[in-house]
Amino acid sequence: MKTVRTIAELRNSIDYGKKVGFVPTMGNLHAGHLDLITEAKRQSSFVVASVFVNRLQFAPNEDFDSYPRTFLEDAKKLEAAGCELLFAPGETDLYPVPQGFEVFPPDGLASILEGEFRPGFFKGVCTVVLKLFNCVKPDIAFFGRKDFQQAMIIENMIQQLALPIKMVKVPTRRELDGLAMSSRNGYLSDAERAEAVQLFLTLCQMRESFKAGQSVAEIEVEAMHQLQARGWKPDYLTIRNAWDLSPYVGSSQITTEVFTPDKAASSQEALSAYPNQWVALGAARIGTTRLIDNLEFSLNP
Ligand code: PAF
Repeated sequence: MKTVRTIAELRNSIDYGKKVGFVPTMGNLHAGHLDLITEAKRQSSFVVASVFVNRLQFAPNEDFDSYPRTFLEDAKKLEAAGCELLFAPGETDLYPVPQGFEVFPPDGLASILEGEFRPGFFKGVCTVVLKLFNCVKPDIAFFGRKDFQQAMIIENMIQQLALPIKMVKVPTRRELDGLAMSSRNGYLSDAERAEAVQLFLTLCQMRESFKAGQSVAEIEVEAMHQLQARGWKPDYLTIRNAWDLSPYVGSSQITTEVFTPDKAASSQEALSAYPNQWVALGAARIGTTRLIDNLEFSLNP
């Protein structure tokens, strides 16, 4: 595996005669990231990964400075997984001048859920992802389903900006007890780690209550109380339409959002293509660590 730092070196090192797969990361790689590389190896013939902790997506009170940076281990893991090229720019390589041009994702998707609690987060993500796409020019890009809202927003960005990139969303990798793998799990003390799976278990319980016909409002309140009683500070726990993250409005819900990924020309078509697809989503703080997770499910028999 070759490692490059500058955009010029990157462009000179990619074999554009091959199908280029791209896996953007912020490093501190775990098995979930390596699943992305494995999938990229399966679907493309030249795999590029990036490791870049993107300051633009961190608010001033967030963990940009303390975000785990484990470059040598990351490079070894990527090489062992078969990655051909690692792009690891320094801040001034990717942002030689302050990034004045930014990508503003639509409020309907980007100011809810994560966006409500991390204002500006998706603007930072879209800006760096579009820039990385422009640097790498991949045929296919791979993102984890654990960041459900991020993946949905990037999918919409690709579609609305007509980027010639296929997006692949890879399932969440979990620890044996069900905890979603995340770089931030490394912040947890032993006691917090043992407790951390409760976020996932709460989402599982929310799904069962929803399937049993309990109202979403009640489910949300109960889930909040349950985690709070265990010492968590939840930001949100909710069930949304997996198509566009719209709230549940009743059994004959019709989605009117305008997001139209390429599989369907309209939301009506989307609904018939993906009827009854839901996602339970949550973000909560245990100690000082904020974890997010989600659980996709269908109400189809
Ligand atoms: O999911 C991440 O690791 C980051 O948000 C991404 C997509 C690499 C952009 O910095």
